[in-house]
Amino acid sequence: MSGTRYGAGGSAAPALLLAIFLILFVAATVYLFAAQVYPAPPPISHDAALVDRQYNLTLCAAGIAFILAQLGLAYAVWRFRDRGQRARFIPGNVALEVLWTCVTLIVFVGLGVLGRRAWADARFVPSPSNAVQIEVTTNQFVYTFRYPGPDGKFGRLDPSFISAPAGNPLGLDPNDGAGRDDAVVATLIVPVDRPIELLLRSQDVIHNFFVRELRLQQDAVPGMVIPVNFTADRIGTFEIVCTQLCGLGHNNMHSLLRVVSQADYDSFLRRQAATP
Ligand code: CUA
Repeated sequence: MSGTRYGAGGSAAPALLLAIFLILFVAATVYLFAAQVYPAPPPISHDAALVDRQYNLTLCAAGIAFILAQLGLAYAVWRFRDRGQRARFIPGNVALEVLWTCVTLIVFVGLGVLGRRAWADARFVPSPSNAVQIEVTTNQFVYTFRYPGPDGKFGRLDPSFISAPAGNPLGLDPNDGAGRDDAVVATLIVPVDRPIELLLRSQDVIHNFFVRELRLQQDAVPGMVIPVNFTADRIGTFEIVCTQLCGLGHNNMHSLLRVVSQADYDSFLRRQAATP
């Protein structure tokens, strides 16, 4: 049966052009990712490698869904183009709805469960007892790092003693003996292959501690001490940046992470202990 014709019958050109555009768009997008046009710097810890693996897995799942959806759209645009036929109303398909809701649920929950370790390792797993503890204090717009010194104990902090001009940006209480040997520096220096536990604090607004090579990003929140763990397995100098918009100087808020050998780390600690 030829069917009743409604109207003149549309042109095939717009549908064809849109379908071709969609196919080229998919091809260009897949190329950008597959060719790694903007590669991430190599990871410098085991956890960072886990994060990379998880990222690639998520990218693959989302990429397959993206390719299928866009090519399906291109096909539908062409296949169901206006030929002058009467449009048919479809009230939906329960079986299909249930199917793709379940598939989405399984993929998302599955990725979450798989990614749990990569994320939780740096946060919820307590650091081993031999971890090097370093306190990180953020304020507009600097990072300040504190080492507990030879006694292994951080001295008490009291906000009323905070005075950057007087050389006490953290507010170390001069009456607490444990704080006398604390070393306060502007660059984070850590020994290679040793577990590090950072204690993140903020004196004013929410800042962030982000090192690309560690794939580690954690907010520093006023009133909280947030622990994060990592073990860097490569010697080198890496940038620490703040990724929370924290004020006018935010774009310039950064510091350096220097991963050094155990011998270099020991001599750094000795130099700090020698300076009063
Ligand atoms: Cu601190 Cu942005």
